[in-house]
Amino acid sequence: MEARRLSTGVAGLDKLLAGGVPEGFFVALVGMPGTGKTIACLHFVWAGLKAGESAIYVTTEESRESIVRQAAQFGMDFEGAQKSGRLIIIDALMREKEDEWMMRELAVEEMLSRVIEAKKRLGRSARRLVIDSMSAFWLRAPVKAREDSYTVKRILNKWGFTIYATSQYAITTGSAFGWGIEHVADGIIHFKRRVVDGVLTRYIIVEKMRQTPHDLRAWEIQIRDKEGLTLVRPLARRLEDESLPEKVARRIKERAEEDEFARED
Ligand SMILES: Nc1ncnc2c1ncn2[C@@H]1O[C@H](COP(=O)(O)OP(=O)(O)O)[C@@H](O)[C@H]1O
Ligand SMILES: [Mg+2]
Repeated sequence: MEARRLSTGVAGLDKLLAGGVPEGFFVALVGMPGTGKTIACLHFVWAGLKAGESAIYVTTEESRESIVRQAAQFGMDFEGAQKSGRLIIIDALMREKEDEWMMRELAVEEMLSRVIEAKKRLGRSARRLVIDSMSAFWLRAPVKAREDSYTVKRILNKWGFTIYATSQYAITTGSAFGWGIEHVADGIIHFKRRVVDGVLTRYIIVEKMRQTPHDLRAWEIQIRDKEGLTLVRPLARRLEDESLPEKVARRIKERAEEDEFARED
């Protein structure tokens, strides 16, 4: 039977995924800081809210206010959705204030119990869950990443969520906190960045999506005010490469590939 798919909220990305993310999947969004992972999460939640669903967003690296403000810049009314009781943002950073949806400690067990409480409150219409990011739970104990990821997936699966979980790659080590959620993920979307001709350029590549004939190319993305994340073009071989003498073309291509994959970010 064909899996039901949920829109990612980014039209170009839905196309790469043969329509969207299969319902019930645990999708890892991984990559360096500033590459667009959080913004992709906002699109995913907003797609659900627009379709009349409710949603849960766990934020461990930014405050709830920061998430709501960022969403508003792209025309997504998270404020209104919170007020009308369709969006719960669980905040791990507001430990000093008393708040119903804060986390007392940055621990996976507490996160799970808050998410389950939120789900009970919102009911069946809460089908999308974002955990942004998971790596914050392992700052002191990276070895727990794999086991925790497994626990999170196993427990939350029963509650009928489709999950986006982000993971931050450390700038220095490339993947220090990375290998946790990837091991259990049904899908992996890798967010990358590179400076091209002096300009910060961002890419995404779908590295894995079970049960999906997904696109295999890296795609340049843009983040624009009022619009959010859009796909620009695939990094495919250019036509002019073909008309160069074979040796030259090969060297250019090799250089470009070195450039792109030298750093595993
Ligand atoms: N309103 C906006 N207009 C254009 N670009 C924006 C806007 N808001 C944020 N950005 C870009 O998005 C980046 C943050 O992306 P984010 O998804 O938070 O990254 P991360 O991968 O760390 O979660 C910023 O560094 C900035 O380049
Ligand atoms: Mg982020």
